[in-house]
Amino acid sequence: MSKLTGSKKATQFTESVIREMTRLNALYGGVNLSQGFPDFPAPAEVKQAACAAIEADVNQYAVTWGARPLREAVASGFSRRYGLPVSADEQVTVCCGSTEAMMSTMMAIIDPGDEVVIFEPFYENYGPDAIRSGATPRYVTLHEPDWTFDPDELTAAFNAKTKAVILNTPNNPTGKVFTRDELETIAALCRKWDAIAISDEIYEHIIYDGHRHVPIATIDGMADRTVTINGLSKTYSVTGWRVGWTISPPSLTGAIRKVHDFLTVGAAAPLQEAGAVALGLPDGYYLDLAARYQRRRDMLLEILERHHFTCYKPYGAYYIMTDVRAFGCTNDVEFARYLVKEVGVATVPGSSFYKDPARGRTKVRFCFCKRDETLLEADRRLEKLVPVGVPR
Ligand SMILES: Cc1ncc(COP(=O)(O)O)c(C=O)c1O
Repeated sequence: MSKLTGSKKATQFTESVIREMTRLNALYGGVNLSQGFPDFPAPAEVKQAACAAIEADVNQYAVTWGARPLREAVASGFSRRYGLPVSADEQVTVCCGSTEAMMSTMMAIIDPGDEVVIFEPFYENYGPDAIRSGATPRYVTLHEPDWTFDPDELTAAFNAKTKAVILNTPNNPTGKVFTRDELETIAALCRKWDAIAISDEIYEHIIYDGHRHVPIATIDGMADRTVTINGLSKTYSVTGWRVGWTISPPSLTGAIRKVHDFLTVGAAAPLQEAGAVALGLPDGYYLDLAARYQRRRDMLLEILERHHFTCYKPYGAYYIMTDVRAFGCTNDVEFARYLVKEVGVATVPGSSFYKDPARGRTKVRFCFCKRDETLLEADRRLEKLVPVGVPR
């Protein structure tokens, strides 16, 4: 057999459906409500700080685990908000986005045969991340409409082989914000089975209706067994900058830093300087960010419901999961392709968030990290869509 083929690992997962939808959107000139990136500007102070860093010739490799000002800002920000001491030297590693932070963490802690518990629907990277790190994923379902999990199902997913559980709160794609009680349940299982929580908190500040973000690291006995992952992408509307980080217990930091170093050496040095400035923005910035997103959420909810989508109201992050049975849809991928090609609105097919695609077959996800004009244009285009049984 020819050796001019991809590896077995690479054949075990497909191209990212989310990124594919963005490409299809460009092809058909659609309104892109698929991939979660803002179409409005980043904060002026943050952009100026990046320009100033380049002007000041911050052009060479930063320390591989991250420039000190950013690591200190990450550590002090987390300590201040949640009352948990974090050491910039021993616990913070800056990576190329939280995507790399997740991959480096998994490669640093997983051995082939280890099991990893993943809640589904899940952010689509976690599946390939598990495969690439050699983990055996064990999926636990979040049940709509409020995306709760069955504690018995979770309990049954843990065993002596469980090395880690991957958590994402506020959650993509559901908008769920895990409650303290739910986190206590997960934490108790981590303690019982000596497992690590890898907690993707990239939507930490994008949270609505008085819900509060609780980092699982702050639950009793979890600081020593949690890797918290976050980044600049969503909080400061700079998804293309590729700056993220891990906060890990000192016992795991060395392994994460080694993997990170040989994977990417480091994140963009001038953008790390700007990141330190971003993290120093006053509290009002974060309140304003959440308030603006809540308004956009309400706007898109109203649009989608008027166009006959069944919406699951999100309490955090910037996505709306919908059910599309009203349109006679039984195949989310075909429906999403129809939407982008014929209606001109790009979404993400629900099946890409599930291990078993059948579970997402009647769902599509919209994002609302967009200007009002963009959402209104989507509204106008969705007029074309007619539910079954309604005459044109
Ligand atoms: C849950 C979640 N984690 C991570 C990422 C990627 O973040 P980054 O840009 O920091 O790699 C995304 C982007 O959509 C996301 O939704």
